[in-house]
Amino acid sequence: MKKFYVTTPIYYVNDVPHIGHAYTTVAADVMARYKRLCGFRTFFLTGTDEHGQKVEKAARSQGMGPGELADRVVVRFQGLWKSLNISNDHFVRTTDVYHQKAVQELFKIIKEKGDIYLGEYEGWYCTPCETFWSEGQQLEGNLCPDCGRPTERLKEPSYFFRLSKYQDALLRFYEEHPHFVMPEVRMNEIVSFVKMGLKDISISRTTFKWGIPVPEDPEHVIYVWFDALFNYVSAAGYGWDRDRFGTFWPADLHIIGKDILRFHAIYWPAFLMSAGLPLPKRVFAHGWWTIEGQKMSKSLRNVVDPHRLIEEYGADALRYFLMREVPFGQDGDFSHKAMAHRVNSDLANDLGNLLYRSLTMTLKYFKGEVPSPGGDMRELQGLASSVVRDMEALMDQQAFSRALERLWDLVKGVNRYIDTKAPWALAKEKRHEELATVIYSILEGCRIIALLVSPFMPSKAQEMWDQLGVGKDVAMASINDATWGGLKPGTKVRKGRPLFPRLDEKAIVAKIQRELSEQVEEEITLQEFSKVRLVVAQILHAERVPGSKRLVRLMLDTGEEKRQVVAGIGEHYDPDVLIGKKVLLVANLKPARLMGMESKGMILAAVWEKGMALPLFVEDVPPGAVVK
Ligand code: MSP
Repeated sequence: MKKFYVTTPIYYVNDVPHIGHAYTTVAADVMARYKRLCGFRTFFLTGTDEHGQKVEKAARSQGMGPGELADRVVVRFQGLWKSLNISNDHFVRTTDVYHQKAVQELFKIIKEKGDIYLGEYEGWYCTPCETFWSEGQQLEGNLCPDCGRPTERLKEPSYFFRLSKYQDALLRFYEEHPHFVMPEVRMNEIVSFVKMGLKDISISRTTFKWGIPVPEDPEHVIYVWFDALFNYVSAAGYGWDRDRFGTFWPADLHIIGKDILRFHAIYWPAFLMSAGLPLPKRVFAHGWWTIEGQKMSKSLRNVVDPHRLIEEYGADALRYFLMREVPFGQDGDFSHKAMAHRVNSDLANDLGNLLYRSLTMTLKYFKGEVPSPGGDMRELQGLASSVVRDMEALMDQQAFSRALERLWDLVKGVNRYIDTKAPWALAKEKRHEELATVIYSILEGCRIIALLVSPFMPSKAQEMWDQLGVGKDVAMASINDATWGGLKPGTKVRKGRPLFPRLDEKAIVAKIQRELSEQVEEEITLQEFSKVRLVVAQILHAERVPGSKRLVRLMLDTGEEKRQVVAGIGEHYDPDVLIGKKVLLVANLKPARLMGMESKGMILAAVWEKGMALPLFVEDVPPGAVVK
């Protein structure tokens, strides 16, 4: 049996899943589903990249261990994949024991081969952040890009991989496998880069602990990419499932974003050559999404949070949009306008309406039973079979949007066929035999369309088959089912609700615009900021406001006077523990009345989760000190 092994990158757990992650994963899922349809024994892998300093630091700042943070974020990825109907066969975590063992084993093999040596890593080190930065990563003047403080030139012992040794072997490999990297422009970039010369790369660190220990030298942990890339072999069974590994390795397709191409197209094959393992067949680097014309930022992410998009448009429509809107390999822009437009034109008008009108006519002219065709069906039959063929070639090049475009030739073709054959006129003229042939052809066209669209929109494809009365699971179907004539005459159709209700494009765009304008961070001048008078104040007295869970009445000493402030911190603080503490007060805020009580000013609190407002306490400074 033919096999197909497809992967996504493994995602870092210091961030929560966003549309960029969803994009890569949906593409891999579409590929996996398509290959299953074509009868391949398929292994589809995704997972999480959990080690490294960033995760260690992110966890510390949230007051937990790195393992705990990883556990929390992993379920967010897994949850999203479920909502997006992702059919991965395995989920790898780099903290899984089998993975750690495999990485250590491979480290040993590569070291014994003479390709790993102990040297010194030299870089710019930020002591407060405990991070090394390269020349390029730093801010001008040797400043840390994270905290802005000066860095210093430091050395640490580190294991290196002899990447330089593989320069010629890599160039030879690219020449023999010109489609190893796709799209072609990216292959050219890689070849030029390697031709410029390769330096050995540092693959261990001693400045943090959260990683896989180097065998026999546990002062070092294995640096992220050596650890991460080997997930593709460890999860395929390397060292623990000989059968699976034998069946599936080498991978047929690594789908990644263009930002991580060098790791996959240069380091990865070199590691494998050194380890004596076969090389993957293809690395496809897709482009990046901007959001409503802008680079993705934390605030913009709200409007394209994958969960929210699923709620607004449905998982299948989102999957369709991502695959259809932008040629795979190019950059694209996500906008709600474009999304709503695609749903309305391609999905509601072309596809949904096709099924709806086909079933309506079947009910009207044949009491809801698929008629038996008697005449010539070559027109649609010919179109369908050429679409099946063309799609196969396009899918094999990961040309997802062109594959869908070609499929829509069939969708539009069947719609046009209805218009030109005008079944209503045939019915009127009582040309029953012709009518039966026309309706059969239309329904059969719909059945084949559903099959071909199933890798992209698995749920809607199933709904289509259910409404057509096919009575089979489309996920278990084979591409051979795309052969004309599969729909049995006499089958009862079951017309349901429209597949894709039309969206109010204008209302959606207006809603998003409103949200975006609320999110724009306005810049202020120093002069404007200096209007705010911030002072340190000590809490002399605190008590709950009767009848409120949230409000606490505070009596503050501002150094100059005593004044009353009502603060919404009662949910998290017992008033008694507040007494004696020093807080930051906005002293010149207009007084307000809260539950009948006057509040003169506002105390500052930190908010990092909805509803969690914790006051900022100050030490070592007397009341009345001014904060600037
Ligand atoms: N952990 C590494 C990968 C190791 S693979 C052995 C990593 N993780 S990541 O979480 O930062 O990124 C994963 C993927 O998300 C990358 O393929 C990246 O290109 C993709 N995207 C992140 N933001 C994106 C967009 N704005 N648009 C499209 N894809 C983007 O890198």
